[in-house]
Amino acid sequence: MAKMRLLLVALLQLLDRCHTVPRFSNGFLYHDIFNNNGNGEISYNGVQLHVASDQTSVFTSRGGNVTLPCRYWYEPPLSSPRRTRVKWSWQPITGGQESDVLVAIGNRLRTFDRFHNRVHLREDSVGDVSLEIVGLHLNDSGRYRCEVIDGLEDQSVPIDLELRGVVFPYQPHHGRYRLTFSMAQQACEEQEAVMATFEQLYTAWEEGLDWCNAGWLADGTVQYPITLPRLPCGGWGLAPGLRSYGPRHKHAHRYDAFCFSSSLKGKVYYLQHPHKLNFSEATQACGDDAAHMAKVGQLYAAWKFTGLDQCDAGWLADGSVRYPITNPRPNCGPMEAGVRSFGFPAPRHKHGVYCYKAEPKPFGEEIVTA
Ligand SMILES: *[C@@H]1O[C@H](CO)[C@@H](O)[C@H](O)[C@H]1NC(C)=O
Ligand SMILES: *[C@@H]1O[C@H](CO)[C@@H](O)[C@H](O)[C@H]1NC(C)=O
Ligand SMILES: *[C@@H]1O[C@H](CO)[C@@H](O)[C@H](O)[C@H]1NC(C)=O
Repeated sequence: MAKMRLLLVALLQLLDRCHTVPRFSNGFLYHDIFNNNGNGEISYNGVQLHVASDQTSVFTSRGGNVTLPCRYWYEPPLSSPRRTRVKWSWQPITGGQESDVLVAIGNRLRTFDRFHNRVHLREDSVGDVSLEIVGLHLNDSGRYRCEVIDGLEDQSVPIDLELRGVVFPYQPHHGRYRLTFSMAQQACEEQEAVMATFEQLYTAWEEGLDWCNAGWLADGTVQYPITLPRLPCGGWGLAPGLRSYGPRHKHAHRYDAFCFSSSLKGKVYYLQHPHKLNFSEATQACGDDAAHMAKVGQLYAAWKFTGLDQCDAGWLADGSVRYPITNPRPNCGPMEAGVRSFGFPAPRHKHGVYCYKAEPKPFGEEIVTA
């Protein structure tokens, strides 16, 4: 540090003799930061860069738009503007490497990869570099970092983006404990969901999730949530909580999955139909209603976020039969809210069906044919 300073002193003295104002390639003027007091001494003029956010975490839902607040300022305020570089980066909720989201220098702005065309800076006022993200994906959650770089200074602040959602256990049609880590990942995606994180499962457990089958989490550990200790689920002796098998071998070991789904665009509904349907008829019936069969993640999201309550078992796209209950009552399963499952009956069995429409038509827009 001292060496560096000496070098700078020497450099500036040299430059001073040349009577020029040195302009460096990043467009940054040394002249702005260093005051030459005329005695050959140079002192830092004490201007300090600050970067802050008024929120450390932001909760939102899938499909929505979100603003991650961030601003910077100087103390004392600058007499003339400086050229700064603003960089937003992102680390997935599952950890791993930080990657670039957006870089802005003056009016020039570059966005990266998955955030391409989905992010911009708000710039409501001087120093406002809040990040706006539109059309949030389930996998956009994680730790964002707002960084301002100004020649010699570099300040940053992290903001966590979390999605409101619902965790559900998933077991494929061929039975219990059949999924490797990557198969579990794929199984969640096929149900319009992503693998749950430890924090998400923990929150679900706090809200009452009790499930006696172990499932993969996004961090590669295998766990299950128990609210009522019992013999087959870790025994009586253990307190309620998440039972963990710890990290498991991602290729060799097989378990179920815990998936995470967030709120929906669109609508899940129980199809009103004159009679019960086998699986292929059910597929057709949703199609005839300009919809698709609902996926498990969609049914859970509808149950959690729109209070879908229907005491009728119905087919879902994966071949399982379930129904959602928000107001428990006799003859609709246990006296607690939840999505009930009948597993995967033979496709010839007859049930109702849950369909999903991406954009529900408002009433009165039905096409009337003469
Ligand atoms: C999100 O922003 C886009 C573009 O600004 C806009 O078209 C869309 O309606 C917004 N969505 C919501 C849910 O506000
Ligand atoms: C994230 O989710 C979006 C939308 O569901 C999907 O298109 C994209 O492939 C996902 N990206 C990754 C890295 O999983
Ligand atoms: C469902 O019923 C139809 C007749 O309505 C039949 O053609 C079809 O094979 C049945 N599908 C299954 C999976 O049983």
